[in-house]
Amino acid sequence: MIVISTVAQIKDVVHMEKKNGQTIGFVPTMGFLHEGHITLAKQARKENDVVIMSIFVNPLQFGPNEDYERYPRDPERDTVLAESAGVDYLFMPSVDDMYPDEPAVVLTVKKRTNALCGLKREGHFDGVATVVLKLFHITEPDKAYFGKKDAQQLAVIYGLVDSLNVRVTIVGVDTVREEDGLAKSSRNVYLLPEEREKAPAIYKVLSHVKEALEAGETNVGRLKEQAIHYLNDHSGAEVEYVEILSYPELEPVREIEGTIMIAAAVQYKNARLIDNVILTVK
Ligand code: PAJ
Repeated sequence: MIVISTVAQIKDVVHMEKKNGQTIGFVPTMGFLHEGHITLAKQARKENDVVIMSIFVNPLQFGPNEDYERYPRDPERDTVLAESAGVDYLFMPSVDDMYPDEPAVVLTVKKRTNALCGLKREGHFDGVATVVLKLFHITEPDKAYFGKKDAQQLAVIYGLVDSLNVRVTIVGVDTVREEDGLAKSSRNVYLLPEEREKAPAIYKVLSHVKEALEAGETNVGRLKEQAIHYLNDHSGAEVEYVEILSYPELEPVREIEGTIMIAAAVQYKNARLIDNVILTVK
């Protein structure tokens, strides 16, 4: 594995690999790698000649009161993990190299952001779309890998690629979980021990709502209320939302049919966690 820290160098590598007819799989991350990121990289390894992973904590997608400064970072450990997952090029640019000046152009996401995290994290998905398009231009991937854990982000990326005719295939990868069901996340390290013990309640309640919908329950309002109630009692966190929406459009569901996402966000003392399950009802 080769570690690359400048945009100019990775562009040279990409051009060289392309000239040799190699296909490129790309895994964008913000580092502090865990089994979720590694699963994306391993899938990319199977499906492409060359695998590029980026690690870049993108300031553009953090709000002024969010955790940009204290977002967990461990480049040495990440380097070992990326190599073991089969990454060929680990791209770790500095903020100055990615954004030497204030960008002259940034993207505005017009759809799929008027719900869930889009409401609370103003501008977040604009920052994600901008950096992801920039990274696509830098790495020119044939396929790019994103986790369903961040299902709204994945929906926004589908919209980005469709709207701006980006020549890349987006691959959505299933959420990787701890044994007790908690979705793996770089932010889990910020949970206090008693919070960590209670956090599996999030996936438990999402799975319960999924089963109820599959069993024919149609009262979406009641399901949401029950889920919020359960989380208030059992998660040890402040509940931000539980939503049941069409996927990937993220619109309110009128009838229980098609692909539906049940999503939750909760706030612990030092970490905001999100999770979701997606189901298809015929
Ligand atoms: P980050 O939070 O580091 O996540 C990188 C990728 O790993 C995302 O596609 C995310 O959905 C996926 N991922 C995280 N936890 C996962 C899990 N438990 N199972 C499966 N996949 C998981 O998402 C970002 O970074 C950034 O917004 C980024 C896309 C890199 C743009 O800055």
